Amino acid sequence: LYIVHIAAEMAPVAKVGGLGDVVTGLGKTLQKKGHLVEIILPKYDCMQYDGIYDLRALDVTVESYFDGKLFQNKIWVGTVEGLPVYFIEPHHPNKFFWRGQYYGEHDDFKRFSFFSRAALEFLLQAGKKPDIIHCHDWQTAFVAPLYWDLYAPKGLNSARICFTCHNFEYQGTASASELASCGLDAQELNRPDRMQDNTAHDSVNPVKGAIVFSNIVTTVSPTYAEEVRTAEGGKGLHSTLNSHSRKFMGILNGIDTDAWNPATDNFLKVQYSANDMQGKAENKAAMRRNLGLSSADDQRPLVGCITRLVPQKGVHLIKHAIYRTLEMGGQFVLLGSSPVLHIQREFEGIANQFQNHEHIRLILKYDESLSHAIYAASDMFIIPSIFEPCGLTQMIAMRYGSVPIARKTGGLNDR
Ligand code: ADP
Ligand code: GLC
Repeated sequence: LYIVHIAAEMAPVAKVGGLGDVVTGLGKTLQKKGHLVEIILPKYDCMQYDGIYDLRALDVTVESYFDGKLFQNKIWVGTVEGLPVYFIEPHHPNKFFWRGQYYGEHDDFKRFSFFSRAALEFLLQAGKKPDIIHCHDWQTAFVAPLYWDLYAPKGLNSARICFTCHNFEYQGTASASELASCGLDAQELNRPDRMQDNTAHDSVNPVKGAIVFSNIVTTVSPTYAEEVRTAEGGKGLHSTLNSHSRKFMGILNGIDTDAWNPATDNFLKVQYSANDMQGKAENKAAMRRNLGLSSADDQRPLVGCITRLVPQKGVHLIKHAIYRTLEMGGQFVLLGSSPVLHIQREFEGIANQFQNHEHIRLILKYDESLSHAIYAASDMFIIPSIFEPCGLTQMIAMRYGSVPIARKTGGLNDR
């Protein structure tokens, strides 16, 4: 099959969390199975460009519609982790992807509805005929209604649309009038059986639109798929999911076992495997040295935590675990950052409080190489999420011989 993923993240070049890991891991796995896989991403200014090989601009530009006008998009092509990736660079005065961050801009709805339409326009103008167009999360959920309303009639009609919702907390809901910018008929779509938000009736909900308009809808674990069918877990979309239940299912994520392999991981001080765990102890010793933690007692367990610091992840329980670990004689290393200012500040406060402590370190940033080192160095790994669609850190921890300690929810409660 010819499969095109349209996404907002892709590890390692544009990764905020697990979505990036899954787009790359799934893409690589499907490619290995013999499918032709291509990825379309925005060309963000803040990407890790050193992970993109042979990046070059195509000779032709692609014209796409937005807010009543046509804009040129420069298309770049490159290879990431062996996968062909097209990067869309819009020549729009709002500089949609020149913001120094992936998300969290006041006009995210515009940025990603523009991108969704430009991606389809590229497929159409390039004469590509994918069998499957796979879109992910609310940022590219627009692809589903755009495809059936505008692009299938224009001839881009070979594909079936698959939508994966990685987290129903983020739905991208916005005022219905915003929808017209990308050329969708706001009036026509702002109806209860289409994109109208189930609670705010003057708003449209991109995730709901993708549930309604996709051929198949998945989420990232069977247990979470059950949870979101209930009023408590569905974040307002349980009734929509129930009325489309025949095309909705949960498929458990996996991790990329090449990218996450302690036997070959170049980020580690010493590589090791399940057959010879000596290297794990050396990684623990190295981490203690690098972070200035006490190495007086080899047997003192090291607890790791790597996470986005958002309420979903159980931040109050993480705080609790920090103090409890100290009380019980363990060491604790946290790597995380928060898009929520007061949470970031709160953890900065804790980090300062323990600045010179011999058993605890909080590192409040995003750091790919340090994350690998922590998985390798830790003896245990905590994931006290309040809800968790799938969670990848528990799988990575197990791959690195660190015992996950998790709350029983969503993908953390999957067999
Ligand atoms: P989510 O997607 O909800 O953030 P997942 O468990 O699915 O949660 O995926 C998180 C991914 O992001 C993992 O690969 C984890 O190692 C990584 N990650 C999270 N925070 C950081 C950070 N501060 N630095 C480096 N990697 C991080
Ligand atoms: C989301 C979820 C997480 C999941 C990831 C990849 O960010 O919060 O649980 O593992 O997507 O699907």
